[in-house]
Amino acid sequence: MNSKEQKVLVSSFEKEVSEGLTAFPKYLSSKFFYDEIGDELFQQIMELPEYYLTRAEYEIFETHKSSIIQNFDKSNGGFDLIELGAGDGKKTKVLLEELVRQNHDFIYSPIDISQNAIDGLVRNLNLEMPNVTVQGQIGEYFEVLDRLKHMNDRKKVIMVLGSNIGNLLHSRAIQFLKKLCNAMNDGDLLFIGFDQKKHPQKVLDAYNDKTGVTAAFNKNILARINKELNGNFDLDKFMHWETYDPESGTAKSYLVSKEKQTVDIDCLSLQVHFEAWESIHTEISQKYDDDIVKWLAKEAGLKIVKSFSDQNNDYKDYLITKEK
Ligand code: AVI
Repeated sequence: MNSKEQKVLVSSFEKEVSEGLTAFPKYLSSKFFYDEIGDELFQQIMELPEYYLTRAEYEIFETHKSSIIQNFDKSNGGFDLIELGAGDGKKTKVLLEELVRQNHDFIYSPIDISQNAIDGLVRNLNLEMPNVTVQGQIGEYFEVLDRLKHMNDRKKVIMVLGSNIGNLLHSRAIQFLKKLCNAMNDGDLLFIGFDQKKHPQKVLDAYNDKTGVTAAFNKNILARINKELNGNFDLDKFMHWETYDPESGTAKSYLVSKEKQTVDIDCLSLQVHFEAWESIHTEISQKYDDDIVKWLAKEAGLKIVKSFSDQNNDYKDYLITKEK
């Protein structure tokens, strides 16, 4: 790789693509998967037979909705329900319906990095659940948490579903949980999903589906660089590769260059050289057990109150409060 000319990198996409592709080993952040096409591919992933996470969480909501909601609003005093990384909100609707049915006083505030996802969700909820007050917000997790700190009018229940926390290394997850803790007052709740350790093959299959949707999702980051930064990645010259380490519980996604090649990214004035079989690390999807979740919570000044699991114990949602 060499830089043809110095250039001021404006957007975080430009900056991070430049940093990641000039590093050794190369990496790109999975947060850049999610443009309009990436959102659509993720929708397809959630429908895949191999991708058990969404169905497991859906099952938890269907089975335990009454008990979950009772914990959200024990005093019936009303609350703000804030969802970080809301996506299409399909699972959340199960809880929203139950909240409406039981006449709880709440405002639903979905927050997502994708403008496209939030627009779709707000439109859809306005149509399907006109009784729910929805206030959508766009933003990255860490930045949004600063905003949440100033929301102090009434009780907050913050939801982070879909094991979205699993896309962060433990050190970043603790930082994230600390920020959440900071944004919470005594009595506020965090309701957060953690995908559990399980048969390694089941994890591998979830991220390496037969139909190749996950591969297309992973490669979409290269398509985005082509589109938005005027790059010339040939997507067929890269392959999706998944690993899972049952000891650490970390699933890792890579894009592997099938041959020696050079890619131009005009907007960054950058040439990126790849050796044959050189990789770009694109995503981690961490798997957990109760001890790890307990440890992460404690490190962040939080404690687990309760957990809800699907029948297979594939996945758990934890109710968490500030440690007093
Ligand atoms: C959003 N996130 C929790 C998903 C996961 O399971 O890590 C993203 C994903 N990547 C590949 N398939 C799904």
